[in-house]
Amino acid sequence: MKKTHYLAGLVLMSAALPALAADDCTLTIEGNDAMQFDQKELSVPASCDEVTLTLKHTGKLPVNTMGHNWVLSKTDDMQGIASDGVSAGADHDYLKADDERVIAHTDLVGGGESTSVTFSTEDMEAGGDYSYFCSFPGHVGIMNGKFIITE
Ligand code: CO
Repeated sequence: MKKTHYLAGLVLMSAALPALAADDCTLTIEGNDAMQFDQKELSVPASCDEVTLTLKHTGKLPVNTMGHNWVLSKTDDMQGIASDGVSAGADHDYLKADDERVIAHTDLVGGGESTSVTFSTEDMEAGGDYSYFCSFPGHVGIMNGKFIITE
């Protein structure tokens, strides 16, 4: 009897989901001491006007040896941004100042830290070719993934 009521409650909650659609626009990704993100792909529906991404560094190594950030750009711009980021150096969190190719980025964090960024998807296209990556020197080759906006 109680179980039936519980299930009925769940159905009601599902019916209310459109009101909770903002949750689809909230993403979390982890980086570790092995220079890896835990996901090779992130996606959001085109209905998201804004996306909030949280990066958690689950490792223990400090930011100066195993720093991670989350940088979003068109896939074609990824290598150029990362390369210019190396030149920009640690003082600038390995990103060129005001790099217009960067759609969004978090701060650079070390083990045990987390950071978030909220960005507008206004200038992005559903089905466009976007990637995210870490711009810490040497990380982009492994720490990257596809960012997908679904129709
Ligand atoms: Co990294």
